[in-house]
Amino acid sequence: MSNYNQDKLTADVVAAFSKSPDPRLGEIMMSLVKHLHAFAREVDLKPEEWQAGLKFMEETCRITNRPEIIVLSDTLGLSMMVVSLAQARAGQASGATEATEATVEGPFYWPGAPDLPLGADIGEGVPGEPALYMGRVTDVDGKPLANALLDVWSGDGEGMYDMQLSDPPTMKARGRFRTDAEGRYWFWSILPNFYPIPDDGTVGRMFRATGRSIYRPGHVHLMVSAEGHVPLTTHLFIASSPYLHEDAVFGKRDSLVVETDRHPPGKSVVGREMKVPYHSASYDFRLAPITEKVAA
Ligand code: BEZ
Ligand code: FE
Repeated sequence: MSNYNQDKLTADVVAAFSKSPDPRLGEIMMSLVKHLHAFAREVDLKPEEWQAGLKFMEETCRITNRPEIIVLSDTLGLSMMVVSLAQARAGQASGATEATEATVEGPFYWPGAPDLPLGADIGEGVPGEPALYMGRVTDVDGKPLANALLDVWSGDGEGMYDMQLSDPPTMKARGRFRTDAEGRYWFWSILPNFYPIPDDGTVGRMFRATGRSIYRPGHVHLMVSAEGHVPLTTHLFIASSPYLHEDAVFGKRDSLVVETDRHPPGKSVVGREMKVPYHSASYDFRLAPITEKVAA
């Protein structure tokens, strides 16, 4: 029988971090150690399982054509936990709980999308049925925010992102739009389809080994920002999409689900003459004010 004292081991490692010059780092490391040790004890972690875990993490970090470590965090629900904590903190600090809900950024954001005029089509040359997205950006009291920025990115109607399609990839289905004086935005894209998270790496292996579903419901990504307001990273989820109730990254929030209408060819509400059927979706984004507490 081993006389090694497991409780003392945990206490010693925690104590080793207790004098961190950065108290927040110390707090995080001490808690991490406590939870890691408790996890190992709870599952009675075997040496070969510990080694397999380390190898998995090492391989995850070696994947270079996408940030697989983000995909791992997303699929473990850690990203959504951090998003939710941040939003709760911001809501408490500003008292503005009516802001649009945030969700995961995911691995496919590409900074530097083109600045486009309202009404531009980011779906040109992208497989999928055309869709018009429109609405307003307001503050939490409904006051329109002029010149707010919407940085939009989307997969295509077949479930792929530009980054996955060519080497080197070329930007597609991405654009940055500014709201007009009444806080309105509108742009064209396609109706995104559901799609699998990238599954040819370590995360895909984890999914297959554990029998999890690899799909995300169809969605459009947006980062919405305006001066004096807390930037928002979110999605619009397409109400008719499969997998709405089993998002592989737990990012779906009911408040972000939009109904889409299907229209016959003809003149659209924003004046564009459409030769083919198209969809439309309306959604208003509400941004919380930056208060001193939020900024801190
Ligand atoms: C996505 O939205 O594209 C995504 C998010 C998390 C993991 C994988 C993909
Ligand atoms: Fe996505």
